[in-house]
Amino acid sequence: MTSRIDWVRANCRLLLAIAEEFAATQPFRDLTIGTGIHLEPKTVALLLTLKAGGARVVSTGNLNSTQPEAVEYLRAQDIDVVGDRTTDEREHDEYLREVLSRRPHLLLDNGGDLFARYLDDRYEQLLGGTEETTSGRVRLSKLRAQLGRPILVINDSPIKQFAENRHAVGQSVLESFLRITNRATNGRNVLVFGYGSVGRGIAASFRNAFASVAVIEPDPVLRLEASFDGFQVPDRATGLRQADVVITATGAAGVITEADLDVLRHRVVLINAGHFPAEIAVDRIMADPRVTGRRDGPEGITTVELTDGRQIHVLTGGHMVNLGGPRPLGNSIESMDLGFALQARCLEAVARGRASPEDVVVPVPAWINALVAEAFLERYRG
Ligand SMILES: NC(=O)c1ccc[n+]([C@@H]2O[C@H](COP(=O)([O-])OP(=O)(O)OC[C@H]3O[C@@H](n4cnc5c(N)ncnc54)[C@H](O)[C@@H]3O)[C@@H](O)[C@H]2O)c1
Repeated sequence: MTSRIDWVRANCRLLLAIAEEFAATQPFRDLTIGTGIHLEPKTVALLLTLKAGGARVVSTGNLNSTQPEAVEYLRAQDIDVVGDRTTDEREHDEYLREVLSRRPHLLLDNGGDLFARYLDDRYEQLLGGTEETTSGRVRLSKLRAQLGRPILVINDSPIKQFAENRHAVGQSVLESFLRITNRATNGRNVLVFGYGSVGRGIAASFRNAFASVAVIEPDPVLRLEASFDGFQVPDRATGLRQADVVITATGAAGVITEADLDVLRHRVVLINAGHFPAEIAVDRIMADPRVTGRRDGPEGITTVELTDGRQIHVLTGGHMVNLGGPRPLGNSIESMDLGFALQARCLEAVARGRASPEDVVVPVPAWINALVAEAFLERYRG
C-alpha cells in the first residue's frame, strides 16, 4: 500500500519535474539549507526536491503542526529533522536555534522565526533565502537593514495570493470545519475576521456551502469590497451576537478575547485560520472568572462552559485549523505544488546569485512567477 506522503509526492507534478532538473543541474551542491516550516506531506515533497538539487537539508517544524509520519519519512530519506511536534514555545525556540547552529547557507523560513533568530548569532556564509508568509514579511521587513541579504517573500507572489491563500485556504478551512465538527454549514451565520486573501477565500467557501457570511474588516476599502462581494459588514458586536461560527484570518493577536464572552452565542464555534495561535486569546478566555469548566471533546474540539450555562467551542485550541484536528490535510496538493515550486525556484535564484543583495524581503521576481505559471499550465492543464 502506498502512504499519503507517496500519494502527495506523486501528485506534485511541478516539484517532481524540478527535482528531475535539479538532479542534473545541482544548484545547491555543497550548500546547507535550514528550514522552519510545517512538516507535513507536501513539505516532504519540497524538501526532497531541494535534496535532489544537492542540498544538505536541516529542518524543524512550526508550533503544533509537525506530523510524525512526515518526520519519519524525511529521516528515512536522510533529511536531518530537529525535534518533534510541540506546542511549547520554549522547546520550539530551541529547535529553531539548533537548525541555525548548523550554519545553513540558505534559510527557508515561515513566520520569520529563523531569520529573526539568525540576528542573535550572525554568521558570514548565510547567502539569504525565502520567507513563506504575510506574518513573516511584516516581521522581517522591520529588520531589513540588519538582515542585508536577499530574502524573497513567497507570499507576495500573485500566484500564492490567489491559488493558495484565497482558493486553497478557503477550501481547506471549510473542509476542516466539516471534518472536525461534522456539522452542517447550511443557513449558519458565519462571521469572518479579516478580508485579506485568506479571509476572502474563507468567506467565499462558506457562502458556497450555503452559509450566511458576514465580514469584520477595519480597512474601509476592503470592507466596501466585502460588501460589493455580497457579504454583510455589520459592526463587530452585532456580528458576534449573531454568529454561529467565528473564523479569524487577520495575522493580528487578540482578535477574539474574554472581552467578547458576553456577546457570544450559546454553542458558537471559534476557529482560527491565521498563522499564529494568538488570534483567539484562548488562555485569557480560559482564565476569565465567567468560565466554569473546560471539556476536551472529540479530537480538535474544546468546549468552554460559562457561568450562565452557555457553551463555546474552540477548534484545535486556537491553532491554525487546517493543520490541526484528526487527520489534517492542509491545503490542496495543487496549490502547495505551486507555492513550493516558487520556493524551489527562489532558493535556486539566491544560491546562483540571481537575486541582488538589495532584494531584502522583496516579492518573488516576475520572471519566476511567469516560469512557474507556464509550468503549471503545461503540466496540469495541457
Ligand atoms: N491557514 C493557512 O493555511 C494559512 C495560509 C496562508 C496564510 N495564513 C495566515 O492567515 C493570516 C491572514 O493572511 P492574509 O494573507 O489574508 O493577510 P492580509 O494581511 O492580506 O489580511 C489580513 C486582514 O485582516 C485585517 N485585520 C487586522 N486586524 C483585524 C482585526 N482585529 N479584526 C478584523 N480584521 C483585522 C487586516 O486589515 C487585513 O485586511 C496570516 O496570519 C497568514 O499568515 C494562513
